Amino acid sequence: MSGDALSLDPAELRRRIDTTRAHPARVYDVFLGGKDNYPVDREAAAAALAANPRGYLDVRHNRDFLRRAVNTLAGEDGIRQFLDIGTGLPTAENVHQIAQRTAPDSRVVYVDNDPVVLAHARALLTSGPDGRTDYIDADFKDPAQILEQAAKTLDFDQPIALCLVAILHFVEDEEAYPIVRGLVDALPSGSRLVLSHLTEDLNAENIRAVQRTYTERGFTFVLRTKGEVERFFAESSLELVEPGVVPAHRWRADGAAPVPEQPEASYLAGLDDIEKVRYADINDVTDADINVYAAVGTKA
Ligand SMILES: C[S@@+](CC[C@H](N)C(=O)[O-])C[C@H]1O[C@@H](n2cnc3c(N)ncnc32)[C@H](O)[C@@H]1O
Repeated sequence: MSGDALSLDPAELRRRIDTTRAHPARVYDVFLGGKDNYPVDREAAAAALAANPRGYLDVRHNRDFLRRAVNTLAGEDGIRQFLDIGTGLPTAENVHQIAQRTAPDSRVVYVDNDPVVLAHARALLTSGPDGRTDYIDADFKDPAQILEQAAKTLDFDQPIALCLVAILHFVEDEEAYPIVRGLVDALPSGSRLVLSHLTEDLNAENIRAVQRTYTERGFTFVLRTKGEVERFFAESSLELVEPGVVPAHRWRADGAAPVPEQPEASYLAGLDDIEKVRYADINDVTDADINVYAAVGTKA
């Protein structure tokens, strides 16, 4: 276990946590059924759900894409190192738990800039004895700091899977493209880019309604077309693996998304819409539900 970031002074950490406005990591946590969020985040999630009542499927299928991608990379492709930028709050299955189930020697470095993720990061530093995890409290927009600190845990002479899953829609074009290029440049041959991204290509009306609720709350929320998502791969000469850039639920679908344990029907009936989301079976999904593209590319 590692994690220099965890030595931060608790008073300083409290000072950094803003509970007066919604934060992306915490709103996402609401949709995943987590507890590490505040009333303002639940209000933002409820507004997004009112705008798109099956919008929780974007979140949960995005997370399930990450499960399938890490399983594929660790299980079939022999990848043993992961750099997960925009990690989000710890959840039931984090990247190291998924990878280490197949490959116990996997090393994972997590990066996020949200102080609440930092406050809960200990749950990400639970590597098995054969592998290693670390947490870096840093901004995607400071790739030099990320690369320097990640090199304490990851071997940059061996392939690394760079995971940018549901983070790039918080970053405007002029910053996002050169940073992704720079990060991929630092990786050796055989490395992978695992990427997912919100789009208005698929069900524009739904996602624009959601976008309005978030931009009203001060989030940057950039929707990118398939061509714009492909550009992240093309600019670094990455070869897209099958099936290319596709709606998240279609990327190597295995129909094995975990189904939450169901409570008593009477308990469920008493919950509000946002509380019910955590019990939804996401295997009930159609193309009309999904607004997230997902893809993996390989560096030659
Ligand atoms: C929607 S969540 C995605 C979490 C996880 N990657 C997943 O897909 O399940 C986006 C995460 O990116 C983080 N994030 C947003 N902008 C960031 C930035 N500039 N630097 C680092 N992390 C950022 C947020 O704090 C949040 O935890």
